[in-house]
Amino acid sequence: MTAIIGAGLDRVDAPLKVTGSAHYPNDFAYPGMAHAALVRATVAAGRIRAIDTSAAEAAPGVLTVITHRTAPQLERGPMTLLGPSPPAPLQDDRVLHHGQHVAIVVADSAEQARHAATLVRVEYETAKALLDLDDPRAEIVTDPWGLDTERGDVAAGFATADVVLEGTYSTPDNTNNPLGLMSTIALWQGDSLTVHDSTQWPHNVRTSLARIFKIPESGVRVLAPYVGGGFGAGLRMWPHVILTVLAAREAGRPVKLVLTRPEMFTSVGHRPYSVMHITIGATRDGDLVAIDADGVSSVAMEDDDYEPVSLCAATSYACPNVRTRDRQVRLNIPCPGSMRAPAEGQGNFALESALDELAHDLGMDPLELRLRNLAEVDPLSGLPWSSNALRECYQVGAEWFGWSRRNPEIGSMREGRWLVGYGLAAVSYPAYQVPCQARASLHRDGSAFVRSAATDIGTGTYTVMTQLAAESLGLDVARVRFDLGDSDMPYAPQAGGSGLTGALGNAVHLACRRLIGEFLDLVRDEADSPLRGAGLGEVTVSEGRLHLAGAPEQGEAYTDILARHGLEELSADGRSTPPQPEELGMAVAGAFGAKFVEVRIDPDLGLLRVARVVSAIDGGRILNGKTATSQIIGGTVGGISQAMFEDTATDPETGRIANATFGDYLIPVNADVPDLDVIFVGEPDRATPIGTKGVGEVGLVGVAAAIANAVHHATGRRLRSLPITIDQLML
Ligand code: MOS
Repeated sequence: MTAIIGAGLDRVDAPLKVTGSAHYPNDFAYPGMAHAALVRATVAAGRIRAIDTSAAEAAPGVLTVITHRTAPQLERGPMTLLGPSPPAPLQDDRVLHHGQHVAIVVADSAEQARHAATLVRVEYETAKALLDLDDPRAEIVTDPWGLDTERGDVAAGFATADVVLEGTYSTPDNTNNPLGLMSTIALWQGDSLTVHDSTQWPHNVRTSLARIFKIPESGVRVLAPYVGGGFGAGLRMWPHVILTVLAAREAGRPVKLVLTRPEMFTSVGHRPYSVMHITIGATRDGDLVAIDADGVSSVAMEDDDYEPVSLCAATSYACPNVRTRDRQVRLNIPCPGSMRAPAEGQGNFALESALDELAHDLGMDPLELRLRNLAEVDPLSGLPWSSNALRECYQVGAEWFGWSRRNPEIGSMREGRWLVGYGLAAVSYPAYQVPCQARASLHRDGSAFVRSAATDIGTGTYTVMTQLAAESLGLDVARVRFDLGDSDMPYAPQAGGSGLTGALGNAVHLACRRLIGEFLDLVRDEADSPLRGAGLGEVTVSEGRLHLAGAPEQGEAYTDILARHGLEELSADGRSTPPQPEELGMAVAGAFGAKFVEVRIDPDLGLLRVARVVSAIDGGRILNGKTATSQIIGGTVGGISQAMFEDTATDPETGRIANATFGDYLIPVNADVPDLDVIFVGEPDRATPIGTKGVGEVGLVGVAAAIANAVHHATGRRLRSLPITIDQLML
């Protein structure tokens, strides 16, 4: 692994993690804690005709069994930034998908609960399940998010095209599968509720549980200081969390539920199946004149999920005539949810594969085609970007990779018996910004404490926020403690959408600036203070001291000011709000990237090996080169996984997921992952004070298309559906 930027700070939480002292949700225990196990539906559609819990209730250690017949009426959770909450569990006898929770069993031990769960007898009245995107009986939701786009005159655009490329691309169901099994512990004390949960968004869990159990939000505390990964699986508050809280109330004891791996496939979302049909028209010179994109994805009954898969066709290139449309098809499937770059992960594969096909048809270098159609301004609004170094991504990435060594002729590059292919893809990731709050305190001993109810799902939030606070306050990082993962802390949005570092970073920065302002207020009228009367813009901070800008000797330490005023600490709050394009006169940019991939294919055995990946990324200001690089590496592995391995296989007859274990669901191992080069380019973004853009999802997107494009270069095979498997490569 090589990075051309300076090394970043080591993770501040690393010592805790490697010594096993970082406590994940299922590491907690309470006196008298009981354990829960779920019973799941074994049909995909129909009704529960009978449910017999007597054997389970009589089993050793069992405290209670809750079914739809005994569960109370529960209000559905609230509307959120990510759409409505999933349907509440156990509300009637209907079965909407295979694996739906139909009962929860609580016992003294986890083993007893799991055993008793096998004793619950359920009889179903089975209905014909809707499992196919093309099933004519399925309800179709058109323009589900109001994000269908149309600009220019698409028909007129195609009329001027010299070359028209048309293709249909599909991506399968994939399952998020964070390594940490998602866990919930619920503890009632009177009407107060404490919940440990594998969530990416503690405030959402708090708000939802308060509403569902009709208690004030102040009576609910949600804790998630460490979460074993998420990839989007922890964005929504899922039915099993509600069931655990309900079970704790019914049992009158704290209750812990740890999902099994098979349950993870049906309980906490997945990336839904998608099909995108795209038509692109271009002039002989390679100017895009029209794009028409139609996206379809699956969604569960009575739920909603944000997957505008066609939208990237409208946002990524300068093309005057574009139409994008999305539809969702309601099927008897578990609720989908955001998974590692929702919508972009699917749509980009189609768009970037299609562009590669177009370049091939035009006899043009695919890099040249992309440079030619680079969106110099935001294609949707026409506004200048707050930052955009995509051109530099292409140039630096191509240079680093050695793109110029590519012989464009199909199958012309070899190494021994291996066919060699070079492929590239670009990504223009949308900016996602939401309000966030943080609180910063400076203590008499000169240390700072900064906190917000965010989560660190492995991305490095603890670390980069510590750095940011240290920089904003002029303190050594060792003097700063940043804490998160507690809903009693100031409001934070979800760790998702590549948006948390920006939202939280700006809130932390603003809290620290306001804290400095509080110090200046204290000394405003103090004749002896060198800082008297100074405004925020006139001072700088370093080494625990405030001083006049340009006059380091004219200042004093935080600790001296606190001591003089007899204060133990001083605190301030910061709130960041999303930057507004209209006010800025700029389109708020997300991250950009160019991915260059080399593959090797053994034509006799159909073996595909990814030999190299170079990712050139514009993430704005990079706060920590080490954790940001790790983010891109992790995302790239996710992209390799999407391209070559992951495929959640549903039995078309029963709706049962056939490969819901890590023995059957393929993910890459180290031997599948080559050296991954990550290069950051670009400038601090102009839309926010800290200038950073999220670097989570930009790492994954584009990798699958770049691999497919490289496979085409090596073999001439154009593979339009993922994953790419051996049988498709036998030549
Ligand atoms: Mo991400 S799929 O927004 O956790």
